[in-house]
Amino acid sequence: MSLVIAMDGPSGSGKSSASKGVARALGLRYLDTGAMYRAITWWMLRQGVAVDDAAAVAARAGEPVLESGTDPDAPSIAVDGTDVSAPIRTREVTNAVSAVSAVPEVRARLVALQREIIGTGGIVVEGRDIGTVVAPDAPVKVYLTASEEARAQRRAKDLAADPGASVTVTRTEQARRDRLDSTRTTSPLTRAADATEIDSTELGLDEVIEAVVRLAEERT
Ligand code: DC
Repeated sequence: MSLVIAMDGPSGSGKSSASKGVARALGLRYLDTGAMYRAITWWMLRQGVAVDDAAAVAARAGEPVLESGTDPDAPSIAVDGTDVSAPIRTREVTNAVSAVSAVPEVRARLVALQREIIGTGGIVVEGRDIGTVVAPDAPVKVYLTASEEARAQRRAKDLAADPGASVTVTRTEQARRDRLDSTRTTSPLTRAADATEIDSTELGLDEVIEAVVRLAEERT
């Protein structure tokens, strides 16, 4: 298998910017698995599926057709041919995604799709369970963290256009999402035993990218 870099960690740890930066620096593809969970959640909401009803979500999990573009300069996500890059970032989707992504049928479907996209490698994959479940043989595994405060600040900045997204609200919603993501039964967010932990609280984006590129160079 050629290079697979697994980038896991909680929301707001800087995973997306770092993963895209690493992919660009090394000429690799980039896959945002969180966008896939968000896209299926967006579809469930659109279809009027009760997202807290695991059986209802499971029954429809096979229906939407997802397509992920893997260019780090222009990553894309479409559902049934519609580009959903913007609507999957709304608070409505963000607050529903943990319930949908906890459903085993949803995870089984998306993990299979992710493995198909990873194929023979040459890709940076970001998510919550990449090093543990999706690509346990990935030669490079990173677990990116940051203090809760730093993560809430970053998230609130991402959501600056949303008037409801103060740092305090973001922090509360994020803590709830982290709790749900870390305590679910199927593939909870957890650091793989062989992952290198990078705490980005005091690091700039370039420093995080450099650290991961160095790791990749050591391993290949
Ligand atoms: O990375 P993100 O915040 O866009 O991810 C959105 C949600 O998707 C996150 O709350 C948990 C879920 N997720 C997951 O369960 N497994 C992944 N590999 C990626 C994301």
